[in-house]
Amino acid sequence: MKRRQYKGDVVPHGEKMRGISDKKEIAIRPATSADYGFIRALSKEAFSLYGDYEEIIPWWFMHPDVMTMVSFENMRSHSFAMLYVMSGEILAIAVEPEFQGCGIGTELLNHIERIASQLGVERLLLHTAIENEVAVMFFHSASFSVIGKEEGYYPRGQAALIMNKKIGVEYKAKGTCTS
Ligand SMILES: CC(C)(COP(=O)(O)OP(=O)(O)OC[C@H]1O[C@@H](n2cnc3c(N)ncnc32)[C@H](O)[C@@H]1OP(=O)(O)O)[C@@H](O)C(=O)NCCC(=O)NCCS
Repeated sequence: MKRRQYKGDVVPHGEKMRGISDKKEIAIRPATSADYGFIRALSKEAFSLYGDYEEIIPWWFMHPDVMTMVSFENMRSHSFAMLYVMSGEILAIAVEPEFQGCGIGTELLNHIERIASQLGVERLLLHTAIENEVAVMFFHSASFSVIGKEEGYYPRGQAALIMNKKIGVEYKAKGTCTS
């Protein structure tokens, strides 16, 4: 497992994190067709271990009920996430290796959660490979709970954990659903 890097923009002794400048904030926006190449390439890098996503990623990308968001800085995209709005399922989330461990995944997940909540989704759901320890820790850190396991879920045969998280109540209570 790789060593964690500094998170957010707290960079001691004037150092910079590998990917993120310490001056800019992470920006997130809906993906456009111009992002397709980036999403396809990052999916291949992140998910090939679990199956061939060459067909399903474009299909998800084009699907009217799938919301795809990308994060970027200085015009360069560094992560994306896909949410199937009808079921609240996070279909994919990935951060470019160069930018991992900087809090981008968390920011993107929080963003997805806020939008899902505004759309009336009450529960986020996802599958992640049991052997993908980093992802399992990542989702645990975002307060997802394991609710089941599915053997042979992935095309290459790996088992998946099914995780979920109730959302919505906190945002309504805090009245923070403004952006
Ligand atoms: C999983 C993934 C999206 C996390 O994104 P990230 O931007 O690197 O994660 P963050 O920096 O926001 O980390 C948030 C928390 O996740 C956990 N975490 C993330 N990377 C970790 C690592 N390498 N080792 C241990 N814990 C880790 C930690 O609890 C961390 O909290 P902390 O910073 O307070 O320790 C990223 O590693 C990735 O793209 N992986 C490949 C694709 C993938 O597996 N996607 C998930 C399945 S769809």
